[in-house]
Amino acid sequence: MNLHFTDEQEMMRKMVRDFAQKEVAPAVERMEAEDRFPSEIVQKMGELGLMGIPIPEAYGGSEMDFTSYIIAIHEISKVSAALGVILSVHTSVGTNPILYFGTEEQKQKYIPRLASGEFLGAFALTEPSAGSDAGSLKTRAEKKGDNYVLNGSKVFITNGGHADTFIVFARTNPDEKSSRGVSAFIVEKDTPGLVVGKSEKKMGLHGSSTVPLNFDNCEVPVSQLLGEEGEGFKIAMANLDVGRIGIAAQSLGIAEASLEHAVAYAKEREQFGKPISQLQGVAFKLADMATEVEASKLLTYNAASLRGAGIKCGKEASMAKLFASKTAVKAAIEAVQVHGGYGYTEDYAVERFFRDAKVCEIYEGTSEIQRMVISKQLLND
Ligand code: CAA
Repeated sequence: MNLHFTDEQEMMRKMVRDFAQKEVAPAVERMEAEDRFPSEIVQKMGELGLMGIPIPEAYGGSEMDFTSYIIAIHEISKVSAALGVILSVHTSVGTNPILYFGTEEQKQKYIPRLASGEFLGAFALTEPSAGSDAGSLKTRAEKKGDNYVLNGSKVFITNGGHADTFIVFARTNPDEKSSRGVSAFIVEKDTPGLVVGKSEKKMGLHGSSTVPLNFDNCEVPVSQLLGEEGEGFKIAMANLDVGRIGIAAQSLGIAEASLEHAVAYAKEREQFGKPISQLQGVAFKLADMATEVEASKLLTYNAASLRGAGIKCGKEASMAKLFASKTAVKAAIEAVQVHGGYGYTEDYAVERFFRDAKVCEIYEGTSEIQRMVISKQLLND
């Protein structure tokens, strides 16, 4: 596969690159130091149309192709991986489930506000005892008259502390122990009984919000059911297929930034009377990093182009996420190594890349789960 981007896609890349340099880069230090959610940047992203890139104009989106959306996550993540995941989760799993499975009324009510950035979206699947085994979730949604009453708890909800809407997965049929008993709901942040917990203190991705949620007799009208009763798990899985391409793009951004910082430093830092880039031990490291970044790029944009063409791409999305996240971790480690002692200080961005990269191998399905998805399709297709 050769990567050729259209003029429109290149324009998106340039626009996001400029935005990331002018607006995001100056905010990173404060996001790091204060672990503060960058509300003002998210608002500006909304004004630029970045919070609804692949959403149809009819619902207030920018109606650009899926690859343009992936370009935006890739470019933003090169500067701030925290902002990259805010955008990815908001769009892929916070907005898309309503677009693809919502009623017309639900779409009209929520999508324009999500696509404009007025609302921030989140996705609440994971529970304290249901992470990789998402189908075993216990949160209960009991139908009582015109409402469903939700009880249970969720953890690690990205965007959760600032989200306006949550796509919540809960068990409507307690007799059905498998994932077939799960349904999806759109829950608004101010719904009585929904308690948003305190933000987790994470190793990296400072500025992105990760919270637990508690549902304590939280009543949502039946009109908030997304899709059919019992269809929830499939909604989660189908949207995670798409979400994983976003996380691959975020990983790619971290990996590429690590490479660029390592190359620049290696050319400038002198030891043994010459730039360290002229030492084979360093040059070969850079060559390996560049090769793996290129492979991640091909896998990520391949999955994006399949998705854009409406072709089933769960396996390719998992391959892209698996490889790109591994590359991000490895490239960040190597970038720190090239920087030597300086790379271990907060004065150099590679230290942040190192901390930000790890979670890409964990969320939206661990690397082990990606291997399960890939091998299952490989052996069953
Ligand atoms: N699309 C549509 N339907 C799908 C599907 C897909 N990609 N994958 C599975 N399904 C359907 C199956 O067809 C099956 O349907 P039937 O019951 O009708 O046969 C049903 O779902 C169950 O499928 P499986 O038996 O394969 O499910 P499983 O229980 O073995 O689990 C799994 C599969 C892949 C391990 C899944 O549990 C999984 O993806 N786990 C990881 C969870 C995850 O990614 N969590 C991320 C949380 S969100 C997040 O991280 C966001 C963030 O913060 C950045």
